[in-house]
Amino acid sequence: MYNEIDLDKINLDLAPPMEEPARQYYFIAKCRRYVRELEKKLERRLCFFVQTFGCQMNARDSEKLTGILKMIGYEQADSEEADFVIYNTCTVRENANNKVWGRLGYLNTYKKHHPYMKIALCGCMMQEVEVIEKLKKSYRFVDLVFGTHNIYKFAELVASVLEQSDMIVDIWKDTDQIIEDLPIERKYSFKSGVNIMFGCDNFCSYCIVPYVRGRERSRKPEDIIYEIEKLAADGVVEIMLLGQNVNSYGKHLKDSITFAKLLLEIEKIQGIERIRFMTSHPKDLSDELIEVMSKSKKICHHLHLPLQSGSSHILKEMNRHYNKEQYLQLVEKIRKAIPDIALTTDIIVGFPGETEEDFLDTLEVVRKVGYESAFTFIYSKRTGTPAAIKEEQVPEEIVKNRFNRLLKEVQEIAAKKASAYTGKIEPVLIEEINAQDENLVTGRLSNNFVVHLPGTKHMIGKIVDVKLKECKGFYFYGEVVE
Ligand code: SAH
Ligand code: SF4
Ligand code: F3S
Repeated sequence: MYNEIDLDKINLDLAPPMEEPARQYYFIAKCRRYVRELEKKLERRLCFFVQTFGCQMNARDSEKLTGILKMIGYEQADSEEADFVIYNTCTVRENANNKVWGRLGYLNTYKKHHPYMKIALCGCMMQEVEVIEKLKKSYRFVDLVFGTHNIYKFAELVASVLEQSDMIVDIWKDTDQIIEDLPIERKYSFKSGVNIMFGCDNFCSYCIVPYVRGRERSRKPEDIIYEIEKLAADGVVEIMLLGQNVNSYGKHLKDSITFAKLLLEIEKIQGIERIRFMTSHPKDLSDELIEVMSKSKKICHHLHLPLQSGSSHILKEMNRHYNKEQYLQLVEKIRKAIPDIALTTDIIVGFPGETEEDFLDTLEVVRKVGYESAFTFIYSKRTGTPAAIKEEQVPEEIVKNRFNRLLKEVQEIAAKKASAYTGKIEPVLIEEINAQDENLVTGRLSNNFVVHLPGTKHMIGKIVDVKLKECKGFYFYGEVVE
């Protein structure tokens, strides 16, 4: 197992090996030597800070960055006032980008007084040509810029940063590589994301992800199983399988396999008690998956099924490959097979050309489905996507008005859905001490509802039966039942 590799045994006088991941462990050892030397010189420990800006996949990547920086010997800091700061960026909507530009200004000021500080940027936003141009021109204080395809080379890139002072920019257009067995440092001891696939081939017309994450590629089932077995042995009880469209998992593998079959294999792994996944594209959700979910003892009764719009006309323009009726039929089929399933969704308001009638279709689907929760987004124009060149952009005021109406509807329905659970006893995975009140702990039901209850840190990572005493809209107060 590479995670248990002895860095001291790596001979740094030799040239770096060509094969991966051995090459990256060589560079981790090399970086460790540089860091130790600098620590001796400065007579203090060096520390790092990783900031995630994006989705669960982005967060999982940050755990990979953290794993490598820790192995290099940096200590983890809890703010940007650190010796190595890396921003793992997102570009799915314009405001994700704006956050990064804003915070870079602050980093620049801090770095002026801390000459040994290194600043790195990676993630989806770095795959955009205009971003790189802007960085090269006006943000020369950044030391390292890389993208989503060569993240596995992080240790090698850090070594270059520690060896020289010029800005290093290394962006790849795409990759077919999946490198296994690099270090990962989990944020939570008891739960973990697990990538099952990378990239996206769907090209929804508003979405930049296929351009910045590249083509769809699945990990081999045996690599996924091996990773989950190791996680289980390390105390993980809940896993979240990650992919932009998990329902098309396995299509491109040599020995093709379906997502449902992969789930059956994962279900057998001892120690894993809860299995979640995201995201499910409605167009590829199979009957086989519904059946596996309905029979499973471990797969959570929660499905995130992005709607995006309830208007068949807009869905066509979005290139989603389903219409309003098909979506509603799918929901009906799922609810019939798994009556207690919680459905959540993503909805975009203000897609170019969206009329009041289209919007009312969206509201209608929201009411008919009755989502337990929904993420609502204002359409954001992403350069390079087909929707960005559409002329009929919806005026801002109209979009805001629709957005507020949608949000109100979604919240009212969610509150109603949640209140139906009041008084029930449900298994809850305790995740953390409550941020506001240290006498409380916070956990999640199988259907993803949040509950706060009296408890101590010893309960973290355990699944306990909780009586849901009081519903507060979209979360509960509860109590352990002995
Ligand atoms: N692969 C997932 C979603 C990834 S992005 C899926 O297909 O469901 C997460 C969400 O961001 C999307 O579901 C969509 O609702 C939203 N989103 C993506 N591009 C957007 C854009 N240009 N403007 C506003 N919201 C967007
Ligand atoms: Fe974007 Fe569509 Fe791919 Fe999801 S499925 S990442 S929305 S292109
Ligand atoms: Fe953002 Fe990239 Fe995820 S654009 S939403 S971090 S895949």
